[in-house]
Amino acid sequence: MSGMNDFTPPQFLPAWTVLTDHAQRLANQPLSALFANDPDRARRHTLIFDNLTELDQTSLIIDFSKQHLDGSVIKDLIRLARETRLDEGIYHLFGGATLNFTEKRAASHMSMRGGCPPPPGNGADTHNMRTFAFDLREGLLTGSTGKTIRHLVNLGIGGSDLGPRLAVEALADPRGYFGEGIELPRVDFAANVDPRELDTVLAHADAADTLFVISSKSFSTPETLANAEAARQWLRSQLGSDIDIGAHFAAVSNAIEAAVAFGIRPDRVFPLPDWVGGRYSVWSAIGLPLLVAIGGMFDDFLAGARIMDDHFRLTPFEQNLPVWLGLTGLWNSSFLGIQSVAALPYAYGLRSFPGWLQQLEMESNGKHTLRDGSHTEAATAPIVWGGAGTIGQHAFHQLLYQGTRRVALDFIIPVGDADDPRQRILVENAIAQAAALMVGRDLSASRATLARHNLPDAEIERLAPHLVSKGNQPSTTIMLPRLDAFHLGVLLALYEHKVFVQGWIWGINPFDQYGVEHGKEIARALASGKTGEQDASTEQLIRLATEFRQRMR
Ligand code: F6P
Repeated sequence: MSGMNDFTPPQFLPAWTVLTDHAQRLANQPLSALFANDPDRARRHTLIFDNLTELDQTSLIIDFSKQHLDGSVIKDLIRLARETRLDEGIYHLFGGATLNFTEKRAASHMSMRGGCPPPPGNGADTHNMRTFAFDLREGLLTGSTGKTIRHLVNLGIGGSDLGPRLAVEALADPRGYFGEGIELPRVDFAANVDPRELDTVLAHADAADTLFVISSKSFSTPETLANAEAARQWLRSQLGSDIDIGAHFAAVSNAIEAAVAFGIRPDRVFPLPDWVGGRYSVWSAIGLPLLVAIGGMFDDFLAGARIMDDHFRLTPFEQNLPVWLGLTGLWNSSFLGIQSVAALPYAYGLRSFPGWLQQLEMESNGKHTLRDGSHTEAATAPIVWGGAGTIGQHAFHQLLYQGTRRVALDFIIPVGDADDPRQRILVENAIAQAAALMVGRDLSASRATLARHNLPDAEIERLAPHLVSKGNQPSTTIMLPRLDAFHLGVLLALYEHKVFVQGWIWGINPFDQYGVEHGKEIARALASGKTGEQDASTEQLIRLATEFRQRMR
């Protein structure tokens, strides 16, 4: 048994051995055979939440039946969860225990949405940030020339960009209006240190009505600080070197002194507590651009996440959505050897969801060191990628059909507006893709397809092998009634808790990210101009880049 203090790597637990046997047993049974053998499979492997919310009746349906497992696997996955004492983990997560044990912190981001109490010492208060956001939204803030601020540009990267960017894309009114004909502030994002991103945002900006929010928990991320400096220079070049620069900046950071030293007014530095990790921070002051974009609906976003917190904390594993999502993902990765997961949201508003999920899963559980300092041989977080449907169908789905790899798929379908035929096409496409990628098409079905085109027999024989697809791609289908603030909150919290479930069972700390520091160290060494410290390829590339630069002068 394994809990907070007495840890056993999961591979040494009895359920792990049983699950390894299940994987062998199922290897020769394609997914479509599992359906053929069990007429009730779809119903039994679908979790429906009809009383999840105060705002809506049926909030979330998750169909796991296209995952490559059966009832015995589910039973033993839940047994694995019990043997790792996942219930204790959830209790400690919500109780504010130091689960981020390497950095000696709690992981209490749920308290930003009322899902648990804040740890002692607090820091969860977002009152000042909210007042600022509403003042900005309502046109009460002016820039250095006296012009009303109508454009917010968020400068941040990673968790200080991906969450708010996704949520603004999903929820902001594309017409940009606030009430009767009053224009809302424009909200833009620039994350990349490649000047082209900020240049693109600023190409149509008016410096006099633009405010930059430097979103950086640490206020030390070089990309963000370089963009902040570029923004400062742009403002001066547009408005004059003696302008009141403080009128055009705010910051979200817990490095208050560093933000003030940059020139930000102390009352415009909005902290976030150190127990809110970057990739879990959209609920905190990092959500400032979202609050400006959607106003009071921000509270619906928090409410959706809070309801998912309650569900995760209180529901038995057998009906617990994040537990199932975590266990099926872990089954695919650690037992079936499926190392690729495509997130396929069928919603243009969720086009940045795969990027957000990449950071959440890969930065949280892309690790091999376990709680006791040992290294695991089990496969942990998969490679997460994806893109918005239906776009991917005309690009990468070919590989899902006829490539040589198994890829686990998460179809996310907000059903949406019943009166718009395009919305219906979108939903039907998502469901069709999940079906076709599961059942596949054998040689005789391929021949039958070709026969419908009245081709001669010889042509049918020649082409039929090229139509064959193996199918058997496992998928989960998550269906929401529509994409609104509440359901986006539900969805993001669902995945946050999924990642916790997996991290806990694998024995990983999902809340640190020491790996990424190594690249930063080398970048710093290269920036310092020191030579002779790196491998020959690196030294050569730096020399060649310098030569290119000199030639372009
Ligand atoms: O380098 C990784 C990382 O620390 C992420 O975890 C984080 O979300 C991102 O950089 C940005 O960090 P900050 O908000 O401190 O600028």
